[in-house]
Amino acid sequence: MTAKQSLALRIGLDCVLIAICATLFSKNVISLMYHEVVGLVLLLLFVVHVIFNRKWVSRVFSGKLKTGRSKVTLVVNALLILSWLCVMVTGVLVSKKLFPFQISSLNPLHFFSAALALVMTGIHFGLHWNYFWGWMGKRIRLPKVVAVILCVVILAFGGYRVVTSSFGRWVVAPFTAHEEHGERGERQTAGTEVEGQREGATTDQASDREGGNAAAQGQRGSHGQQPFSLANLLYTIATWFSILFLFAAITHGVESLFLKKGKV
Ligand code: HEM
Ligand code: HEM
Repeated sequence: MTAKQSLALRIGLDCVLIAICATLFSKNVISLMYHEVVGLVLLLLFVVHVIFNRKWVSRVFSGKLKTGRSKVTLVVNALLILSWLCVMVTGVLVSKKLFPFQISSLNPLHFFSAALALVMTGIHFGLHWNYFWGWMGKRIRLPKVVAVILCVVILAFGGYRVVTSSFGRWVVAPFTAHEEHGERGERQTAGTEVEGQREGATTDQASDREGGNAAAQGQRGSHGQQPFSLANLLYTIATWFSILFLFAAITHGVESLFLKKGKV
């Protein structure tokens, strides 16, 4: 394989990773079975991604990371791996379809680590901003003014969704879990919940907000699964891609500032 083809393959895999990640941040946007199966497949794709970047791994183990930037990359990548491992392990433990554990008290940790993984992936992506967008820019030729407007729109939408999506709730989930349990307990003793509604009720409400599709909310089935809608899927992908893009752009901006000052 030529160097050009290998680069195209790496960037192609990066795009697949981003696309898949964006569909996993809402459990019902396709189906919970999809969420669990593809969540595990993502682990395999990450392994392939690291194999593509094995030179970096061997540099870490031979102690060749000396510059400030490479030390920052090391810390970011270590947190990236830890957060994704935590998402996968807690995912298996809270699983409702593939595994028998169903330890739902770990839901807050699953949501928190997913939010952290999104932030760390954004930072990681931001550290490779020029590499990725340089390659893309040569293939998708947009007039500069269009590219800038597109960036501003994505950033504004990302900022808006950080505040209005479930992202904030997931960040604080481990610290507010007892409050949610309290609320659920009260609702259960009042005898107003049927089994199907109780299953993941708080996260279903979040999915509704992610999708923002009123029609879909009205047609929810007895197991908290909303019917598939392309509009919901696109909105979910737009939400999580723009949040990822926001953290990546901030990281790239900060790095460029340091580069200008000659500090990295
Ligand atoms: C949506 C998820 C991710 C995206 C978009 C992404 C993107 C990138 C990009 C653009 C590069 C530059 C080289 C290349 O394109 O192959 C890279 C390098 C790398 N990635 Fe990722 N990555 C993601 C997730 C991960 C995860 C979860 C891990 C760890 C398990 C990881 C580990 C690495 C390593 C070790 C390198 C080389 C070292 C470095 O320069 O940072 N990546 N990644
Ligand atoms: C690897 C990527 C994954 C990410 C980013 C992720 C993220 C999330 C998020 C953000 C939620 C809340 C969604 C919502 O409120 O609509 C969720 C729910 C859930 N996830 Fe994952 N997850 C991943 C993998 C997995 C895996 C591998 C499993 C199981 C094998 C799993 C099982 C579940 C279950 C059962 C729920 C519903 C929990 C409930 O509401 O009671 N996840 N996940």
